[in-house]
Amino acid sequence: MIKKGIFITDTHWQQDVPMHPAYLAVKSFAKYFKPDIVVHGGDIGEWEFLMGLNEKRLQLISGKTYLREYDTINRELDFWKEIARDKLHLLLGNHDERIYKAIEKNPMLEGLVEWENQVDLKGVKFYRWRQPEQPVRIGVPYFAHGWYMVKYHANKHLEAFSGNIIYGHVHKFQQASKILHAQDKQIEAWSVGCLRDLNPCWIAGPNEWQHGFGIFYLNGQKSFNFYPINIIDGTFMTPEGELWDYRKVHKYAA
Ligand SMILES: [Fe+2]
Repeated sequence: MIKKGIFITDTHWQQDVPMHPAYLAVKSFAKYFKPDIVVHGGDIGEWEFLMGLNEKRLQLISGKTYLREYDTINRELDFWKEIARDKLHLLLGNHDERIYKAIEKNPMLEGLVEWENQVDLKGVKFYRWRQPEQPVRIGVPYFAHGWYMVKYHANKHLEAFSGNIIYGHVHKFQQASKILHAQDKQIEAWSVGCLRDLNPCWIAGPNEWQHGFGIFYLNGQKSFNFYPINIIDGTFMTPEGELWDYRKVHKYAA
């Protein structure tokens, strides 16, 4: 039986910041698409106040708390838990992993702020941003947050992993493929864009980030297809030719 899935990544949800239209468009589409499987590829939260470069920018992080960040994350995750008919897979990214680094620096936080203690993971598949938890095989392809930020990152992920891999992390689309002649196989790597604002205050120069997500179909352990979808100005068209504009689908938008 063929299962359908949706891959979202790099939402960077944060307290007191409205959700980006690109994210709202995907959210509205998901209600219509009714995926069996949802994969969040990580950088679920922004965790701005845990970023090293913001340590001394007290005005920027004033009023931000762990619990309020988790409130925002839990509210959005409740939506995706409900939408996934089969399973929600939650992969942490480097931003999310900062929680554990904060505990290493401040051991008195132990037992309080971990994802496992602040998010209801019942029925959810949860993976930290480290090997061997990622990449995660779902059907045929593997999913990961991603590790490399180099120019040809899809090729780098493909070479390093040597298998089909779908990831985020770079906030930018790229694809690479390789034919394994001796095994009569082909493998591919895809990265998709993010679902956050494209110009955060901590990036000064021209930014090359893109908005997007992906849908995939799994034919058990036999085969799969992955479709990366660009979102421009909150709009996109599905492989079936349906136009989605978050401003015109309020009946679906939360
Ligand atoms: Fe990210």
